[in-house]
Amino acid sequence: MKQTHESLILTGPGQCSIARVSGPGGDGPVLVAVEYSGINYKDALAITGKAKIVRAPFPFTPGIDLAGTVLESDLEEYVPGERVVLTGGGLGERFSGGYTQLQAVPSKYLLKIPEGMSTRTCMILGTAGLTAMLSIMVLEDHGVVAGEILVTGASGGVGMIAVKLLANLGYTVIASCGSTHLWHKLQGLGAARTINRINTDASRPLMHAQYDGVVDAAGGVALSAALPQVRVHGCVAASGNAAGAELNTTVYPFILRGITLAGIDSNTAPVQNRLIAWGRLQTLISEQEADQLLMATVSLEDVASVCSAKVAGKAPGRFLVSTAREM
Ligand SMILES: NC(=O)c1ccc[n+]([C@@H]2O[C@H](COP(=O)([O-])OP(=O)(O)OC[C@H]3O[C@@H](n4cnc5c(N)ncnc54)[C@H](OP(=O)(O)O)[C@@H]3O)[C@@H](O)[C@H]2O)c1
Repeated sequence: MKQTHESLILTGPGQCSIARVSGPGGDGPVLVAVEYSGINYKDALAITGKAKIVRAPFPFTPGIDLAGTVLESDLEEYVPGERVVLTGGGLGERFSGGYTQLQAVPSKYLLKIPEGMSTRTCMILGTAGLTAMLSIMVLEDHGVVAGEILVTGASGGVGMIAVKLLANLGYTVIASCGSTHLWHKLQGLGAARTINRINTDASRPLMHAQYDGVVDAAGGVALSAALPQVRVHGCVAASGNAAGAELNTTVYPFILRGITLAGIDSNTAPVQNRLIAWGRLQTLISEQEADQLLMATVSLEDVASVCSAKVAGKAPGRFLVSTAREM
């Protein structure tokens, strides 16, 4: 009898169920026994149908992240038994995704999990961790290697991991979010100060300059409000749109303070940057610290309800999806 496995299947926008299926949804060259996935804001948009994330025909398995063990491979660079991670690159959007126990994935962005990092920790971090690390790497590239860093959307997956990484790197972190019940957690992760959302309209083009850099996971009005408060030659790494997609600004922070606004897209990040970022994540965050970043571990059955809560703003932060069941 052919072995079956469990997959979350979207039959249309906002309509999903768990099914037992007999083959992987994808047709990539590397067959992976998926152990963990995660729930990112983008996954929540895809599952609830709140935004058009899925670019493939239904039925479709979403999930932009996966980590597990290679079972079979058509490519000699991936050997059965190796632990691998895939985040973004069209996974769960154009290619059948991570909410499954078995997936045949494309190899372009498929990476070996760094030595010393567990498969579980890799997915506690996932796309959010990669995005946070890439954001900090951009700050460093622009000379912001110390000082005071504002993190917007600090209660979220990207924000929380950024707070931890920045604190571990010795920056002074100001964590901004509206989830005041998570302020204590953020302080425990290393935030020197916690402040509410900064979503006030940026009424003046230049304000008191108080941040050397910004890791912006909120976007919209939060980003508009942050730009006039960045110090001379500071840098803002922008990755999010939870607070909106529109940006209201003037040229003055750029031409009078020489600040840089740098965009982060973890989805299309080149392999070389990913390798550096995952290596640094392994060095900077211990297994124990990764646990502190986790809100909950859930099963495939729970994914839809967590996604609904996430788009409603009621479930910020990292949710690990464990696919563990007998296959
Ligand atoms: N560019 C990339 O490569 C990339 C990668 C990953 C994620 N992202 C984006 O980054 C953002 C965060 O993703 P995530 O997975 O970390 O999400 P998450 O865990 O669900 O967290 C959402 C965050 O957004 C904040 N937020 C929600 N509505 C807001 C508003 N109106 N004003 C200000 N803040 C608001 C929440 O803070 P409160 O406590 O204030 O509610 C929370 O911190 C999303 O926009 C996501 O699409 C981008």
